[in-house]
Amino acid sequence: MAEVHETLDNLMQENRTFPPSPAFVTEANATAAIYDEAEADRLGFWAKQARGLDWDTDFTEVLDWSNAPFAKWFVGGKLNVAYNCVDRHVLSGHGDQIAIRFEGEPGDQINITYRELMDQVCKAANAITELGVSAGDRVAIYMPMIPEAVVAMLACARVGAVHSVVFAGFSAEALRSRIEDAQAKLVITADGQNRRGSVMSLKPAVDEAVAASPSVNNVLVVRRCGNDIAWGEKDVWWHEFVANQSPEHTPIAFDSEHPLFILYTSGTTGKPKGILHTTGGYLTQVSYTHRVVFDLKPDTDVFWCTADIGWVTGHSYIVYGPLANRVTQVIYEGTPDTPGKDRWWDIIQRHGVTILYTAPTAIRTFMKWGDEFPQAYDLSSLRLLGSVGEPINPEAWMWYRSVIGGNNCPIVDTWWQTETGGMMISPLPGVTATKPGSAMRALPGIGMAVVDDAGTPLGNGHGGFLVLTEPWPAMLRGIWGDNQRFIDTYWSKWPQFYFAGDGAKLDNDGALWLLGRVDDVMNVSGHRISTTEVESALVSHPSVAEAAVVGAADETTGQAIVAFVILRGGMEGDDGTTLVTELRNHVATEIGAIAKPKKIMIVPELPKTRSGKILRRLLQDVAEHRSVGDSTTLADPAVMNLISAGLESSSADD
Ligand code: WTA
Repeated sequence: MAEVHETLDNLMQENRTFPPSPAFVTEANATAAIYDEAEADRLGFWAKQARGLDWDTDFTEVLDWSNAPFAKWFVGGKLNVAYNCVDRHVLSGHGDQIAIRFEGEPGDQINITYRELMDQVCKAANAITELGVSAGDRVAIYMPMIPEAVVAMLACARVGAVHSVVFAGFSAEALRSRIEDAQAKLVITADGQNRRGSVMSLKPAVDEAVAASPSVNNVLVVRRCGNDIAWGEKDVWWHEFVANQSPEHTPIAFDSEHPLFILYTSGTTGKPKGILHTTGGYLTQVSYTHRVVFDLKPDTDVFWCTADIGWVTGHSYIVYGPLANRVTQVIYEGTPDTPGKDRWWDIIQRHGVTILYTAPTAIRTFMKWGDEFPQAYDLSSLRLLGSVGEPINPEAWMWYRSVIGGNNCPIVDTWWQTETGGMMISPLPGVTATKPGSAMRALPGIGMAVVDDAGTPLGNGHGGFLVLTEPWPAMLRGIWGDNQRFIDTYWSKWPQFYFAGDGAKLDNDGALWLLGRVDDVMNVSGHRISTTEVESALVSHPSVAEAAVVGAADETTGQAIVAFVILRGGMEGDDGTTLVTELRNHVATEIGAIAKPKKIMIVPELPKTRSGKILRRLLQDVAEHRSVGDSTTLADPAVMNLISAGLESSSADD
C-alpha cells in the first residue's frame, strides 16, 4: 500500500473554510448538540431516530451484535416501508402535496401527489401479488428514470418482495447474471427510454436475459416510448394490468430485519456482489441522514437528486430517504445535454429546486462546458448543494459553490457506499465550517477511523485506510448467497473494523480527505467497476489471450478505464484499429457501455511478479504517462521495455 502514503504526502494543506451563514444556522434541522447527544448514548440516539418512523410493533432491543458481523437493528420491531414513505403522509393530511415532479427528456411533465402515489403503489402491489409475487420473492427492476420505477420499488417493499434494481445501461448478460444470482421471479421494465434525443429500446435486453432465466415467470412492461417491441407469453403491459387493479391495499408490517433489497455492486473479483439491505435500520438511517444532511423542510423544499435509481444513491436519496421525509422532488429522465447543455439549469429555474445532490463528474463536465450555461438562468432558489460518489477536487468544489450556489449555499460532500446504505461522513450544513474537497467528519451516530496497516488508529496529519468502527443501522446484512465473501471482503483485514476499501487522510485540523480506492475497484464517473470484471470481459473475446485493466486519472470522469491486451497467436498482424473498436464494443455487450475502456493498448507482455500477479501499479504509470516506477519485483524486468516498444507499434487510442 505504498501508493496510499505517497498520495498522502502529495496532498496540500487546505486552509480555506466556509462556515454556514447565520441565517442558515438559525433555521437548521441539526445543531452541534446532536454530536454530543450521539456520543453520550449512541444506541439511544439511533433509537430516537428510528422512532421518527411509524412502527406497527415497537422494537425491544436497539442492536443485537452478538452474531457480528451480522447485525440486527431494532429487534422485534415491525413496520411497512411503503406505508412509511407514502400512506402516512396522506393520513397526516398531506395527500395533495406533490411527491414527484417528473420531467421526461422530450419535455413531457407530470406532477404526482402523495395521494396519487399511494393509489399507484397500491395498484402495483395488487398487480405483482396477482402475478404470484409474495413476501421474500425477488423482483428484478430494469427501468428508465420514470415515476413507475419508484412505484415498482415501493410496491415490492409494500408486499415484502425483495427488489433488485439493475441499472438500465447494463447489458442483457449483466441483467441475466443478476436475475440468476437472485433467482428473480418477475422482471419489471419498460419498452424503452429517451436518451440524447432518441428512443433507446430496453425490452430486447430483457427478452434476451429472460430467455435464459428459468426463474422468471412474468415480465411487466411500462409503455414509455411506444417503440416497437417483441411480445412474448410472459409479458404483461403495466398500463393494462396495473391500471385495472384496485387502489386499495392493506400494507403488511414486516420484521425490522426483513430483506428490503439487493443491489449488485462491483467487488475485486469478476462476480458482482449482491449487497443485501433490510427494513427498519435502513429506513431509519436514510431518513435521518436525508433530514439532517440536506436540512430538508418538507413544506417548502424542492429536492433534486440527479442519480439513477440503478445505483444506491437513487435507492436511498430518491426513493426511501426523501419519501419517508415527505419530500417534493424532481425526477428527470434524460441526459444533461439534451436538447442543450443548459438542461439542468433550466430544470432548476422552472421547478424552483432548492437542494441539488449530484456527482463530481457532472460538476467537472459542466465546468468544461462553460459558465455561460448556468449563468443564463436564475438559480437563486438553490439553498444547499450536495456531492457524492467520488472525491471532489477543491477547484470543482469552489466552482460548484460560486457558479451554481452563488456563494450562498453550504456544500455537503457526503461519503458512503452501496454497502453502508446511507451517508456516513459528511458536514452538517448548519453546523460545519467546510473545507473545499473534504467530507469533514463522521455523522453523529457513526464510528469512523483512519488506521495503519496494523489497524492502529492514526491521529491528525496522517493518512491510511478508512474503517468504520461501530455497526450502523443501514449497514449491509451480507452478500446475497455468499456470507463467507461478506466476512472475507469487509471483516478480515481487521476483524474488529469494517474495511471500506478507501484510503483517507485526517488533516491537521482533523478534517477527513478521501483519497480513492485502495483495492482493484475503479471509480469511473462515480460508478464502481472492478478491474477484474473488465478483464474477464476482454478475455472472453476470441482474439484476446490476456488482459490487464487499470483506472487512470481522468480530468472529467475521475478515473478512466485503460486496458492492456495480449492477443492470441496469429492475431498480431492486425494493425489493431478495427480490433480495438471491436473489443470496446465487446465489453459493452458483456457488461454495459459504462465499462467500455477509454483506451486499449495491445502489448506483447504484461508485467508480472514471480508468483504471477500482474503489477497494475506499473501499468498505471504507463496509462498516466509517468515514468515507470520500481519494477524490481518483476519476474522479467525486460517486460516494461517490451510494453513501451509494443505501444509504439500498436494503435492506442480509439
Ligand atoms: C467513493 C456511492 C470520496 C468511495 C454512494 C466509495 C466517495 C465508493 C464519496 C462507493 C465521497 C463515494 N468522496 N469518495 N463523497 N462517495 N465515494 O457503492 O470510493 O457506488 O468506496 O456508493 O465511492 O461507491 P458506491
